[in-house]
Amino acid sequence: MSASIDNRHFVLRRLHSLIGLAPIGAFLVFHLWANSQSRLGPEHYNLAVVGGLQGLNYLPLIELLLIALPLAFHAGYGLVVIHSGRAEPLRYPYLANRRYWLQRLSGLAVLGFLLFHLWMTRAQTLIDPMVRADLYGHMHGLLSQPWALGLYLAGLLLSVFHLANGLWSAAIVWGLTTTPRAQRLSGWVSLGLGASLAALGLHGLLGFLG
Ligand code: HEM
Repeated sequence: MSASIDNRHFVLRRLHSLIGLAPIGAFLVFHLWANSQSRLGPEHYNLAVVGGLQGLNYLPLIELLLIALPLAFHAGYGLVVIHSGRAEPLRYPYLANRRYWLQRLSGLAVLGFLLFHLWMTRAQTLIDPMVRADLYGHMHGLLSQPWALGLYLAGLLLSVFHLANGLWSAAIVWGLTTTPRAQRLSGWVSLGLGASLAALGLHGLLGFLG
């Protein structure tokens, strides 16, 4: 009985990890790149980026299968993992342990931010045709308010941290980095990747203020 629960947890844990990398992690990279095109101005962003994506065939199905369902599973199982965690960092205040808890805390914060972000963007495009026609203008208005800019900045940095730190831990989970040296090296690689993604995301945020 307990062996079958362990087996189930093992499979779900691997699935959770895999889904965090792709499609969710891959989508986050694509999303930041797509939005960095706000730097090219309202017309380009509304017509080429938003118009191009909205014109894709089977878009609702793609969004459901590649984004909504995987994210719901990753967030749902992430909450189970957090709920069943132990208070280890109080006893072992090492870097790896801090990373372990920061991964969980950033996951919770990203969940809150994503709900807000979805409400302010995807939901508004469904409710209001004016927002659908000019998403750049809508984001410009939103991000011109300091509280919203601060919230988006925090949401961006936390999401990027969660993905970069997650890449580091996933390499251990999948047995790619087994020695301390390999883990130190992959720590630098994920730091570089995280810094590049943060810069890309920041570029996009600034583009909406232009
Ligand atoms: C931008 C969206 C997200 C991306 C790209 C993402 C990506 C990842 C990645 C790559 C990992 C590493 C998997 C591993 O260690 O094997 C991970 C771990 C984790 N994620 Fe997410 N995630 C996202 C959102 C969330 C949300 C909304 C939650 C909700 C609580 C969450 C909770 C967790 C937890 C708890 C872990 C650690 C799992 C463990 O160590 O067992 N994630 N995530």
